[in-house]
Amino acid sequence: ARKIIIDTDPGQDDALAILLALGSPELDVLGITAVAGNVPLALTEKNARKICELAGKPETKVFAGAIRPLVRDLVTAEHVHGRSGLDGPDLPEPEMPLQEQHAVDFIIETLMAHEEGEITLCPLGPLTNIALALNREPRIASRIREIVLMGGGFFEGGNVTPAAEFNIYVDPHAADVVLRSGAPVVMMPLDVTHKALTTRSRIAAIRDLGTKVGDACAELLEFFERFDEEKYGTDGGPLHDPCVIAYLLQPELFGGRRCNVAVETGSELTMGMTVIDWWQVTERPKNALVMRDIDADGFFKLLTKRLARL
Ligand code: BDR
Ligand code: CA
Repeated sequence: ARKIIIDTDPGQDDALAILLALGSPELDVLGITAVAGNVPLALTEKNARKICELAGKPETKVFAGAIRPLVRDLVTAEHVHGRSGLDGPDLPEPEMPLQEQHAVDFIIETLMAHEEGEITLCPLGPLTNIALALNREPRIASRIREIVLMGGGFFEGGNVTPAAEFNIYVDPHAADVVLRSGAPVVMMPLDVTHKALTTRSRIAAIRDLGTKVGDACAELLEFFERFDEEKYGTDGGPLHDPCVIAYLLQPELFGGRRCNVAVETGSELTMGMTVIDWWQVTERPKNALVMRDIDADGFFKLLTKRLARL
């Protein structure tokens, strides 16, 4: 199985991504590292453990990482995710322990202990933990198989400012470190995730699983969609983070191209904007495979099938 580390700030869509990974035998989740993002770290690490227990996998290792971005103050998104970050279902307080090791140490230690090209990183929140690891131990860059991340946007614009997507906006300096690291990056921007809509029939298919996980996921999605539906006027909201895990399972669901991605870290107006050289008008190196298209029906079919395994 492909060895992955999920770096996350749950978040309803993060929760669905974690469940998709834990329900997929092709993936070996070595650890889940929490970061401050949608809500503060004390909640994201707890939410990650709640999800592992919901999945019936309390043996999963969950680590706490950075409490704040590298340079800027933390910006959270309770207006999207609710006060807990995981509003919707009534999930019990987790009993499984939080690992004592710091998330950044775990990421470095795991990459150094495995063969080159063995470990894939799956960041679903601000890139603070990944950047801290790269800054502390730059040798990990060449050992990473791939960094498949949710973040950024280009033709679609931003969702937190007109120019920026939330994950990159919260820690643009960290995103800059990651994109300049030389590690292979695959990026799932809003251009993809805004096509992965949680329509009523897609949520119904998940509820119809008739399992504890299916019910909880339907409730998570219903809470999450309430915000987005109002905002975007669509049937359902975009399901961002699970696109990362789906790419590992079925890359053919996605289409994109390799190009240069740079992050704005100076201007307040466009802070966190991902400047994507889609038309190759510069000589800047192609540092990311940027996705733009998704087979949304195939994606939800895969998600529902894997949730059924939990
Ligand atoms: C991203 O921001 C968070 O609110 C979601 O969990 C997702 O990772 C979308 O912009
Ligand atoms: Ca997230």
